[in-house]
Amino acid sequence: MAKAKTKPASSAPDAISILTEDHKKVQKMFKDFENLMKAEDNEDEKSALVEQICGELTVHMQIEEEIFYPAVREATEDKDLMDEGEVEHEGAKELIAQLQAMEPGDDKYDAKVSVLGENIEHHVKEEQEEMFPQAKKAKIDLKTLGTQMLERKQELQSSIGASAVG
Ligand SMILES: [Fe+2]
Ligand SMILES: [Fe+2]
Repeated sequence: MAKAKTKPASSAPDAISILTEDHKKVQKMFKDFENLMKAEDNEDEKSALVEQICGELTVHMQIEEEIFYPAVREATEDKDLMDEGEVEHEGAKELIAQLQAMEPGDDKYDAKVSVLGENIEHHVKEEQEEMFPQAKKAKIDLKTLGTQMLERKQELQSSIGASAVG
């Protein structure tokens, strides 16, 4: 059951804090997967974790693409950096789609999760070290953007949650 937990706009975190928190969360999940790879007989845990990783990343990339990236693109005009970010998202989505059609134990399942983790690690580094500092310097209202992103995130999460039931 979805509980409404919308914070008032004034106390909402800014766009960069939201995205950075997501990054930490997903990086921790990839670490957890590495630990699962060392043990045996944990296919259920692996598949639950991978489902969670894919859901988290899908929502995260979508709020970036719909709200954050267009704002940064407009304010900074660093077209190359934004293009690169979007192409990296495309690569991640391709691996996510493959993983969602697979089960632990399938050929190259673990390898695909590992490569997705490495790609995300690289992508997160570029966002945090290049894109976010540029966004901070530019005249972007990161609070308003943050509020929009949280709203959209809740919407997307509840639609994913609803479709995952059963
Ligand atoms: Fe990100
Ligand atoms: Fe991203």
